[in-house]
Amino acid sequence: MEVIVVSDATEIGGIAADAISALLERKPDAVLGLATGSSPVAVYDELARRCDAGRVSFRQARGFILDEYVGLPAEHPQRYRNVIDAAFVNRVDFGPGAVDGPDGTAADLPAACAAYEDAIRAAGGVNLQILGIGTDGHIAFNEPGSSLASRTRIKTLTRQTRTDNARFFGDDLDAVPTHCLTQGLATILDARHVILLATGRHKAEAVHHLVEGAVSAMWPATILQHHPHVTVLLDDAAARRLQLVDYYRETYRAKPDWQGI
Ligand code: F6R
Repeated sequence: MEVIVVSDATEIGGIAADAISALLERKPDAVLGLATGSSPVAVYDELARRCDAGRVSFRQARGFILDEYVGLPAEHPQRYRNVIDAAFVNRVDFGPGAVDGPDGTAADLPAACAAYEDAIRAAGGVNLQILGIGTDGHIAFNEPGSSLASRTRIKTLTRQTRTDNARFFGDDLDAVPTHCLTQGLATILDARHVILLATGRHKAEAVHHLVEGAVSAMWPATILQHHPHVTVLLDDAAARRLQLVDYYRETYRAKPDWQGI
């Protein structure tokens, strides 16, 4: 696991955008795993700028989103399908239908989950997965107690996650759905490179467990310690509880530019 601590979200956005641009240069038909929420906003903004400037293209790329609320109508602005379209997909040059997400409106939700796993596999798997982390240590919506071997399935959101996300629903906790479909932890581990982004003091405890804690279903993100290629991009506030923070900083300072992440 490579841990990179920089000063702010803009710098994090630049580093992640560099990795995605380099991947698309090498492999224009790459498959990207896309997170919603606040953490990746700076990455998507930077990629939209680069795409406008003709420096990167998503024309041949595919995308799979991590998770979706159950119970929101198709046109609801907080449905993750609509959130990712507005935040990223519609701002760059993806082809029609190139970005897929779990169908939280399906009549048969388990069948929709199985179909989503099949679609990711049929696309050749995810080359680069962007992740955020919840304050309770979730990745995608794999809440504490999730099976470390889980695949895409229905989950119940914790009160903590619903409270954290109430800001997107006019601060009305009752408006936040109680259920979701989410890629499982094993689904995420299949991605070839995982880039996890975290900013702010409120993420420091989850980041501490992710990077330096014991692997446990109680802090689901810790399963990433078993993945061979994970990059964790943090600002100073999110890194404040890391015991080896000086080592991570020294290591990154000494890294040759050509090496990438
Ligand atoms: C979003 C997702 C979640 C978020 C996490 C952090 O698709 O899967 O795991 O990444 O809840 O959310 P933010 O970035 O809004 O703090």
